[in-house]
Amino acid sequence: MALPKQVQIVEVGPRDGLQNEPLNLPDSVKIEFINRLSASGLTHIESGSFVSPEWVPQMTNSTEVFKGITRNPATVYSALTPNLTGLHAAIDAGVDQVAVFTAASERFSEKNINCSIAESIRRFEPVLQIALDQGLKVRGYISCALGCPYQGHVPPKSVAKIASQLYQMGCYEISLGDTIGTGTPQKAIELINAVSEQVPVQRLAAHFHDTYGQALVNLYAVLTMGVRTIDSSVAGLGGCPYAPGAAGNVASEDVLYLLNGLGIETGISLDKLIETGDFICHQLQRPSGSKVALSGYRKPKRSDLVMPGRAQLDK
Ligand code: HMG
Ligand code: MG
Repeated sequence: MALPKQVQIVEVGPRDGLQNEPLNLPDSVKIEFINRLSASGLTHIESGSFVSPEWVPQMTNSTEVFKGITRNPATVYSALTPNLTGLHAAIDAGVDQVAVFTAASERFSEKNINCSIAESIRRFEPVLQIALDQGLKVRGYISCALGCPYQGHVPPKSVAKIASQLYQMGCYEISLGDTIGTGTPQKAIELINAVSEQVPVQRLAAHFHDTYGQALVNLYAVLTMGVRTIDSSVAGLGGCPYAPGAAGNVASEDVLYLLNGLGIETGISLDKLIETGDFICHQLQRPSGSKVALSGYRKPKRSDLVMPGRAQLDK
């Protein structure tokens, strides 16, 4: 299959990126972070989560953050909601869209959301009902789609079964999480082959963490199969507190560089994204995880693109 002409990047930095950081950032910094992301041209920003503060203290100020951001009408601001408590809080905070999240591994599900996969699906039913009634679209995440930190191998068929359930329940998109970044292109292809038998491939998103440095090549593999939504995090921030050893998400800057190189449209400014990555890394006092940002990338000037003439070479 040919590569898509357009790709949607879902920026998960303010949620996945910040949920695993030791520093708990104040509302004002998160708000500026999200405003800068939307100014770079991103049209979907996962801006927080409404989860238990005991489980993920870094997300405790999601309400204040949602209330403080300057809304860009072109941007969707979404949040994770694991249950009805989370959904009601998210609605009160004014989210545009919510996401439910489960796993393809029982042990990960217990560790992350304190219930079995089947129980998580039962909990999502009223969440979806109320959200859809209120006109909010719901995304569905499946963690450990390419491997689990507790169970190891995860059969693609078990991911496909859960994807089918979430899709039938009304999730408009299923985001497949390589939570611990152990996937390889062949495994990613097998996953998309299995899941796309249940859910149209255009309704799948790739959410790949980069622990083993395979995320970009895995993304390329799934792009050739018709996937056209990619989750990524500026500066490669990210990780799940309940996935020990997992590195950050694939960096948004690196994904954008790849897409630009393939001539795929996103409408996002790489320069602004890199500046936003610098901003948040400075706030977190940590280096960027983006190879493109670390390379000292700058837009080539016109003169750089012109081959030197003979006279110049002879000088
Ligand atoms: P639980 O302890 O079983 O919840 O946690 P509970 O229903 O028994 O309630 C216990 C207490 O928590 C109660 O308070 C509830 O009100 C409160 P108390 O009565 O004791 O004072 N509570 C809440 N408070 C605020 N917001 C809520 C909420 N729900 C209950 N929504 C629960 C179950 C699901 C809540 C918990 O396990 C949890 O919050 N887990 C979230 C973990 C998490 O956020 N992980 C990271 C995100 S997932 C991820 O990163 C993967 C992803 O990126 C894809 C990938 O990479 O694979 C998406
Ligand atoms: Mg993640």
